[in-house]
Amino acid sequence: MNILAIETSCDETAIAVVDATGDEKSASFTVLGNALLSQIEIHREYGGVFPALAKREHAKNLVPLLDAALEEAELLHEDTQAIPEETRSRVAELLAREPGLAEAFFDFVSECEPPAIDAIAVTAGPGLEPALWVGINFAKALALVWSKPLVAVNHMEGHIMAALATEPPQNTADTPRISTRFNLVIEEVKMPVLALLISGGHTELVLMKTWLTYEMVGQTKDDAVGEAFDKVARMLGLPYPGGPEISRLAEYSRSDLESDSEGRTLEFKLPRPMLADATCDFSFSGLKTAVLYLLKKNPDMSERGKQHVAREFENAVTEVLWKKTARALEETGAQTLVLGGGVSANTHIRRTFAKAMQEEFTAVELRIPSATLTTDNAIMIALAGFYRALREEIIPDDLAASGNRSLA
Ligand code: KG4
Ligand code: ZN
Repeated sequence: MNILAIETSCDETAIAVVDATGDEKSASFTVLGNALLSQIEIHREYGGVFPALAKREHAKNLVPLLDAALEEAELLHEDTQAIPEETRSRVAELLAREPGLAEAFFDFVSECEPPAIDAIAVTAGPGLEPALWVGINFAKALALVWSKPLVAVNHMEGHIMAALATEPPQNTADTPRISTRFNLVIEEVKMPVLALLISGGHTELVLMKTWLTYEMVGQTKDDAVGEAFDKVARMLGLPYPGGPEISRLAEYSRSDLESDSEGRTLEFKLPRPMLADATCDFSFSGLKTAVLYLLKKNPDMSERGKQHVAREFENAVTEVLWKKTARALEETGAQTLVLGGGVSANTHIRRTFAKAMQEEFTAVELRIPSATLTTDNAIMIALAGFYRALREEIIPDDLAASGNRSLA
C-alpha cells in the first residue's frame, strides 16, 4: 500500500511517499518520494524554535513539498478536478487559520488527479501544538478531497520505527542505485524492544513488550537531553541547534587529547546526575546549571577550555544515558535496544553504546537509525503509519493535535 506521510511537529516540514508491504512480523518499504525542508536557518536567530514562526513556515511549505514528493514518486498526473461545493467549504474551514494555505491547496488539488495512495499518515504529537495543527488540518483536507483514510502517528513511534528499519542487502551492493528510491525492511525484531528516545523534547526509556504496546521504564524529571545540549551550546556562544555544535567541539577535543603524548586529562569535571538513584529516570537540569557556574567562574575561557567543557558535558550525558539504559536492559530483559530521536545522531553516544553493548550485552541486538532517518523526517511517519493502517486505525474527524501525546 502507498502511504503519504506528513510531519510538522517541530522545525522540519516533511512529506514522504512510501510503498509498504508485509505485516507486523516482516514488512518491506520502498521510499518513492521524500521532500523535506528544515527551518533551522530561520529559527537560529531566535536561539530556538519559535512556534508561531514554525507554524507559518509549515503552512507555506506544505503544498510545494507535497508537489515535490508526489512528483518524485511519479504519482502526479495533471487533470482538471472539480471540487464539490460542500467539500470546498469544509476544506476552507479547516485551513482558514493559515493565510494563503487554502488558496495554494485548492490550486494544487484542482489540477491533478487524486494520486494512487492508499492512506495518509500524519504526526498527531508530541510536538509544538501550533505546528502539529497545520499538518493535521492539511492531512484532513487532503483526506477529504481525495477520499483517503487518515491515520494518526505518534512522533516517538516514528523514531522507533526509523531505528528498527534496516537496509536490505541489495541497497549496499556495489551496483549503483537506479534512482533516489531506496528500500527498507523491518523484520526479525527480537522482543521485547527497549527504546532510548532522546530528542529536543524527550528523554525516555520505553519498553515495547508486544508489537506497538508500550510501557514507560524511565524518563527525565526536568530537561530533555537535546534541550540540555541546546542550552549548553548557547552558554558557549554556539548557534542553534546546539547538539551538532557541541559534538563538533567535543570531537575536536577528543582527537586533540588522544594525540596528546603527555596524556593530559580534562580540566573540568561535571556531575553525572541521578546515577546513584535506583530508578531508570534522568535529570539534566543540574548538569546544565553546573556548566553555567563553571562558565561564570571562568569568564575568559579559552577556545581549548570550551572544547574541554563540550567534551566533559558530552561525557557526562553519555555516561548517564548508558548507565540508565544498562539498568533498564537488566531489569526488563529486553532482546533489542533501539536508539532514536535527534540526539541519537551524536557520534560519541553512538560509539559508546556500540562498544558497551558488545562488551556487556552480547546477546542483545542494537539498532540505530541511519543518518537520513535520525533527525525528524516523514519516512519514519510513513513506517509507523503503515502499521496503524494495517490495524485499520482510521482516525475520527475530530482528531486534535496533542503536544504531550505519550507512548505509554
Ligand atoms: O528528534 P529531533 O530532530 O526533534 C525533536 O523531536 O525534538 O531532535 C532535535 C534535537 C535538538 O535538541 C538537537 O540539538 C539534537 O537533537 N541533536 C543532537 C545532534 N544532532 C541533533 N544532539 C547531540 N548531538 C548531535 N549530533
Ligand atoms: Zn523528533
